[in-house]
Amino acid sequence: MADSITITDNRSGESLEIPLTNGGVDAAEWRKLLPGMWFHDPGLATTSNAESAITYLDGANGVLRHRGYPIEQLAAQSTFLEVAYLLVHGELPTAEQHDEWVHTITHHTYIHENFRKRFFEGFHFNAHPMGMLTSSVAGLSTFYPEAKDIEDPEARHAQITRLIAKMPTLAAGAYRYSKGMPFVYPDNDLDYTSNFLSMMWKVAEPRYEADEVLKEALNTLFILHADHEQNCSTTAARTVGSAHADPYSAISAGCAALYGPRHGGANEAVLNMLDEIGSYDRIDDFIEGVKAGEQRLMGFGHRVYKSYDPRAAIIKDTAHKVFEVTGKNPRLDMALKLEEVALSDEYFVSRSLYPNVDFYSGLIYQSMGFPTSMFTVLFAIGRTAGWLAHWQEMLEQNSRITRPRQLYVGPDERDYVAIGDR
Ligand code: CMC
Repeated sequence: MADSITITDNRSGESLEIPLTNGGVDAAEWRKLLPGMWFHDPGLATTSNAESAITYLDGANGVLRHRGYPIEQLAAQSTFLEVAYLLVHGELPTAEQHDEWVHTITHHTYIHENFRKRFFEGFHFNAHPMGMLTSSVAGLSTFYPEAKDIEDPEARHAQITRLIAKMPTLAAGAYRYSKGMPFVYPDNDLDYTSNFLSMMWKVAEPRYEADEVLKEALNTLFILHADHEQNCSTTAARTVGSAHADPYSAISAGCAALYGPRHGGANEAVLNMLDEIGSYDRIDDFIEGVKAGEQRLMGFGHRVYKSYDPRAAIIKDTAHKVFEVTGKNPRLDMALKLEEVALSDEYFVSRSLYPNVDFYSGLIYQSMGFPTSMFTVLFAIGRTAGWLAHWQEMLEQNSRITRPRQLYVGPDERDYVAIGDR
């Protein structure tokens, strides 16, 4: 059987055989038969915008692998920094490479004092931490003008390590500022996750001792969020990067896209939804409202997964471990009931709507003490590794600038009418 398809233009009778490459059809080939005609695909739901060797996702079967490694194995056995290394470098590090990577990341966690004092203190007292994170990541580009040198692999790598290193510092700084609490400096003796927890929660103790179970849970959550191929925020980061903007600007674009409730903002929206439902006896009414199109069941549904999101399954498991330490989140039973009702309802079944990564993660974050406004920030810390891996891969492939076409449906040419005559 030939690995190709043949298309025929019925207007001219002309046919064209197009090879199938890596499971896709090259639009440039296809266009030979259809010059000046564009593929209309809103939301790019059926368009591949990249050849990527980073993450494999099989949505029908709930499979997620990074560089070939199943997410289940990485979540159970690895650390976030090791997974970040894997995403960025393509292979798991040797012990020596690992030590060097961890050392470099650890020694780039500080942010410039001027930046901390003048930039952060410019925000309004109740600024959303995600807005603070998005703008401060973009602001960092002004401190590292050499980041514009995107052609130089060494300069690229320097910004990659800086961004992965500084994200928790910016995130915790945003939280502390919103609480009116003093900034906690990074502690180079702590691992990545413990250091973040210390910058979040340390008060007057000489050293903040993170609970091992909670630290491990957060490590798992960072891994689960580290990458998800061409999702909305990665596409945003890639699009800005494709114009050869510096990586801080590109990653800031990723943060901005992640902030939206259809994407990374869904974890915050799930908690707000559970609060809005309020009690068990209102679940059925709420589900009826969802089916009538009044609102969406947040934390459900996915563009790619049409079966259970494998990340959600791991998170559900992690939630139980966390609740053994923190006590059960009172909203857990409501979430479980909501899932049960939804999964037995024709509306959700026929549309293949299952819990996604955001459905249970917020419950864990909340039980660990994070305010809802920090949930998407935690997502962003993990996803930074993925954004950067894609940004680097795109530059290494010398990709073209992202510039799609449109189908114009506006008025034909017409003459300008003076304002008094309209
Ligand atoms: N609740 C109710 N109905 C839904 C939902 C939902 N959460 N998600 C999709 N649908 C329905 C939708 O109304 C449509 O029905 P119909 O065919 O009758 O018009 C059908 O399912 C297909 O939905 P869609 O909007 O065309 O699907 P999409 O692939 O464009 O959107 C999505 C994917 C994730 C934006 C969407 O499922 C959604 O809004 N979910 C809630 C927000 C959420 O949990 N987002 C987190 C995504 S996972 C983490 C991440 O990567 O960010």
